[in-house]
Amino acid sequence: MTDTAGTYVAAIDQGTTSSRCIVFDHSGAIVAVDQREHRQIFPKPGWVEHDATEIWSKVQAVVAGALARAGLRADQLSAVGITNQRETTVLWDRATGKPVHNALVWQDTRTAALCVELGGTDGQDRFRERTGLPLAGYFSGPKAAWLLDHVPGLRQRAERGEIAFGTIDSWLIWNLTGGTDGGRHVTDVTNACRTMLMNLDTLQWDPSLLSAMNVPEAVLPEIRSSAEVYGTAVGQLSGVPVAAALGDQQAALFGQTCYDVGTAKNTYGTGSFLLLNTGDRPVPSKSGLLTTMGYKIGGEAPVYCLEGSIAITGALVQWFRDQLGIIRSADEIETLAASVDDNGGAYVVPAFSGLFAPYWRSDARGVVTGLTRYVTKAHLARAVLEATSWQTREVVDAMYQDSGVRISSLKADGGMTRNNLLMQHQADVLGVPVIRPRVPETTCLGAAYAAGLATGVWSGLDELRSHWRKDAEWTPAMETSVRDREYRNWRRAVEKSFGWLG
Ligand code: G3P
Repeated sequence: MTDTAGTYVAAIDQGTTSSRCIVFDHSGAIVAVDQREHRQIFPKPGWVEHDATEIWSKVQAVVAGALARAGLRADQLSAVGITNQRETTVLWDRATGKPVHNALVWQDTRTAALCVELGGTDGQDRFRERTGLPLAGYFSGPKAAWLLDHVPGLRQRAERGEIAFGTIDSWLIWNLTGGTDGGRHVTDVTNACRTMLMNLDTLQWDPSLLSAMNVPEAVLPEIRSSAEVYGTAVGQLSGVPVAAALGDQQAALFGQTCYDVGTAKNTYGTGSFLLLNTGDRPVPSKSGLLTTMGYKIGGEAPVYCLEGSIAITGALVQWFRDQLGIIRSADEIETLAASVDDNGGAYVVPAFSGLFAPYWRSDARGVVTGLTRYVTKAHLARAVLEATSWQTREVVDAMYQDSGVRISSLKADGGMTRNNLLMQHQADVLGVPVIRPRVPETTCLGAAYAAGLATGVWSGLDELRSHWRKDAEWTPAMETSVRDREYRNWRRAVEKSFGWLG
């Protein structure tokens, strides 16, 4: 197929801090980008909300912006794919289309106590076999339950079928396809599996989980594959097939063409999320990882992953910049860190909202250890960057323990991959090469690829694989003895972060 009108695909990436729309051409190259931020709402310590109405209007604005920059009309798009911040929970009124409360964001910790209660005597792993997830405030089913219990009259309205639940993919697809005027209420397997309400084997809502979490079936969207036509857009994208939905981390896996068992990617953003393709069966984790969906293309067999979710990586650099004021821009950290040869004995564990994988400790809080008068801000800058690579190393070790798969290289994407010092340290501590692709926008690319597969723009995974090009590669250079010593020190620092609550 030639790169002519009608072979463009748009992707909407609705993320934690901003919404983006990117138009890709048939070769997978970027034609135009538009991006807008939305408000972060912090009503109490640990609570994080978004206004879903604002998100929808920002999405409409970036779609218009990207089309204008590309010089394209909607009818020149073959399809649009959605990718989104996962777990963030919206409940809305089906008749008015209005959210009944701000969305509860994945980082919001208000359901921590509810999760302990749900675990009962079985504890954190009560639902792990069916869902692949530990009970943690991160996931969306308990967030929906919290809203149903705390918004006056909501539960009764939900039971009468007046209320719809969705993660951000559902909210966008419903609005894109007509909203109150016939909008489709669907989600895909990669988003549904983060609710703790979907059974990983049947890929359907599990009645026993719904009853344990007290979520009425009437609120739920239909679970569909990640790449199929869910409906046709109305409004500014009128007539364009809405043809893919994937959680952002799974979309990055798809965009990085990790289609073979044993391939893995790590996306370095606010947090970092490392996904390893484990094939067509869920691999249970005993080492603190999540068993999660990778993707499902139409009627084909689903692909599962092991995921290491790290809550704070890039956000630690932001903290170093905004809260400590040691640097003025995030990029400055690399120059500062490069002015010294090592961390001077200092370690920073960024357990700002507890620790996610592989620990799942809500009682952890951030620590800085190893301080002497020798330590300068440059050593701390190094320790801040090294926190990202050590957290990633812990997740990679857990993956090996769970799957027996030793990764031979790691595909990296996300904003922090611009930091050469970090990428070199990452290769050093993993002992394998770290590779960055030429198209860095792998999240959007994955959503576009899935939408294009569903509408015949691309012939299959082999064609997509052929688009992938390397931009940069870092090979391990650290002496093993140094690596082992530093890893031991890191783990001792992590232990000091436990036990700060209660
Ligand atoms: O699970 C949370 C993750 O999907 C958030 O991603 O890139 O929007 O911060 P991001």
